[in-house]
Amino acid sequence: MIETTSEVAVSAPAAPSTPAAPAAATEQALRPHAEDAFADELAALAAADDRPRPARWKMSPWAVATYLLGGTLSDGTVITPKYVGPRRIVEVAVTTLATDRALLLLGVPGTAKTWVSEHLAAAISGDSTLLVQGTAGTPEEAIRYGWNYAQLLTNGPSRAALVHSPVMRAMAEGRIARVEELTRIPADVQDALITILSEKTLPIPELGLETQAVRGFNLIATANDRDRGVNDLSSALRRRFNTVVLPLPASAQDEVEIVSRRVDQLGRGLDLSAAPRGADEIRRVVTVFRELRSGLTEDGRTKLKSPSGTLSTAEAISVVTNGLALAAHFGDGVLRAGDVAAGILGAVVRDPAADRLIWQEYLETVVRERDGWKDFYRACREVSV
Ligand SMILES: Nc1ncnc2c1ncn2[C@@H]1O[C@H](COP(=O)(O)OP(=O)(O)OP(=O)(O)O)[C@@H](O)[C@H]1O
Ligand SMILES: [Mg+2]
Repeated sequence: MIETTSEVAVSAPAAPSTPAAPAAATEQALRPHAEDAFADELAALAAADDRPRPARWKMSPWAVATYLLGGTLSDGTVITPKYVGPRRIVEVAVTTLATDRALLLLGVPGTAKTWVSEHLAAAISGDSTLLVQGTAGTPEEAIRYGWNYAQLLTNGPSRAALVHSPVMRAMAEGRIARVEELTRIPADVQDALITILSEKTLPIPELGLETQAVRGFNLIATANDRDRGVNDLSSALRRRFNTVVLPLPASAQDEVEIVSRRVDQLGRGLDLSAAPRGADEIRRVVTVFRELRSGLTEDGRTKLKSPSGTLSTAEAISVVTNGLALAAHFGDGVLRAGDVAAGILGAVVRDPAADRLIWQEYLETVVRERDGWKDFYRACREVSV
């Protein structure tokens, strides 16, 4: 007869994969987990939330969507938007996690797939750390379970020798597990998820046991559009997922908002003050990225060639953050064209031959002629030669 291990897994995982961080260490973390960085917002939402919650959820689906999209609670608490994009996408994603289907977030690079998955797990389970990073070398043990070999050799297979994977822990604790870059994982390893997602069970034949998922368990996977084909998802696995495609920001204004908000957060973490003139530079970086990405100028008049890089929102964020650091350490603290020019060049010119020509043509035909962009043109020319 098969015994279930859920009580074992809940009480004492043989080798905890996430040792609890002392409070002081969390404060000092270079990049705190979402549930720590936004602990106040999560607590306020959970307190104000009187809607029905699915089993083991920290808050209702409505509150999770509000956490992601932002809003003001009846007690006046302001919830900052984490994701800027269509409300419906977030609603579908959250609802999926309350059903027996898993969630697959798909999209081109830098469309916030990882970001959204982390925040969903933080809001729903209060824990975004049950994470498996998908690579070409991800072994089955990372998804199922492994063994503590010292114990295995001395005592043979036993519960104490079992090393629980993040997915196994999520099953036993009724939480959300995350699998990053699912399509990078070799197909036979990916298939380990099929039984987990359809039977909600993880057999451990060596011990004659199984871990049964308790209510509240679900899984969020992310996959990159561009990597499709590296290891395609088998149709058997794909059927276990609801796919939600995250789009590029719809308008320049949305993208400016995303970049400004993230740069502000990152800058605070790095002790860089947001400069008052930063807004103009952010707008220009976003304009350049959007125009080159779409192959068309903002006014729709001039067709452009697109460079080989993705020019994602995530890259725009890092160009501006690096610019702020330059301004802070080597300038007067005010973000100027000269601080972002080198970063833009690095993002645009990936292929030294073809991309450089595309960039130069863009500089001479579009940037040079644009009203109020003279300083930007000069700064870009300086780093381009
Ligand atoms: N629509 C958006 N709303 C809020 N933030 C966004 C949005 N798009 C991008 N970002 C920001 O972009 C950054 C990068 O996002 P993330 O790493 O999640 O992208 P990704 O889709 O996982 O990319 P990759 O495919 O390269 O893994 C995050 O800091 C996130 O804040
Ligand atoms: Mg990602």
